[in-house]
Amino acid sequence: MSRIVYVNGRFLPHREAAIHIEDRGYQFADGVYEVTAVRGGRLVDETLHLARLDRSLAELRIAAPMSRRALSFVLGEVIRRNRIRDGIVYLQATRGVAPRDHPFPADTRTSLVIAARRARAVNPKALAEGIKVITIPDIRWARCDIKSIALLPNILGKQQAREAGAYEAWQVDGAGLVTEGTSTNAWIVTEAGELVTRQADNAILNGCTRLALLDIARRIGLTIVERPFSVGEAKAAREAFLTSTTSLVLPIVRIDDTAIGDGAPGLLGRRLRELYVSHARNQAAGGPELPEVA
Ligand code: PDD
Repeated sequence: MSRIVYVNGRFLPHREAAIHIEDRGYQFADGVYEVTAVRGGRLVDETLHLARLDRSLAELRIAAPMSRRALSFVLGEVIRRNRIRDGIVYLQATRGVAPRDHPFPADTRTSLVIAARRARAVNPKALAEGIKVITIPDIRWARCDIKSIALLPNILGKQQAREAGAYEAWQVDGAGLVTEGTSTNAWIVTEAGELVTRQADNAILNGCTRLALLDIARRIGLTIVERPFSVGEAKAAREAFLTSTTSLVLPIVRIDDTAIGDGAPGLLGRRLRELYVSHARNQAAGGPELPEVA
């Protein structure tokens, strides 16, 4: 079956899908994106993702490509036409096509591309054994809260991690505090059992997995502290893990050359992962987005 992609109002075979060379996304990275998981043919945390998309567009003063309701319909069509049960949907919206010039062009139409593909769940070995992260300087801009398609520092950081045999790179700000991974949010569990993740300011992307997990953690009565933590504190933590749409909740057992806790995936991280997975499964079965936690 050939893959179908939505491009500016049309559903096209993947190999025929194309955008204009003067699309501002192509020339200036003048656009935003979302990656949303699909489980059982349904989007996971759709409202969170669409709300974040609206926010990113508004911050950059890019017009919404269509109403939320229409967007939700098109997303569903892309999933259906590609017969995706478990996978991801990629959505990209840019300021549109115009002769190359830095200021906002007048009268462009927001370009919208939506593609989907099947994706297997996270590597079972990474899940069972935990993963390694390295730490690198955060060289990004001051608006990391916007899910911009300008990802050069992120891909350089991820490549550095891969070359060091690590899964992810945790970016560290000028004060020695961890901001986030290159495509994931960063968490630790302190010796006192507190769950710590950086507050959602301009230095991080406010992950939808992060938001759902905070909600779950609150419901089971965990002590949550949204604050920055240093690399030293992370290395001395009882547990560490990362979250994202594609990695869900993944245990970290090594930061640079330091083993975390006893060097095995932590218990709280595992419990939170299980709760997050059932939260997603619940939505796959047609349940509400709000996590149902006893
Ligand atoms: N990345 N931080 C950054 C910089 C990210 O790019 C992402 C998502 C996250 C986690 O957000 P969420 O939980 O909403 O996926 C945090 C996506 C998956 C990507 O670029 O592929």
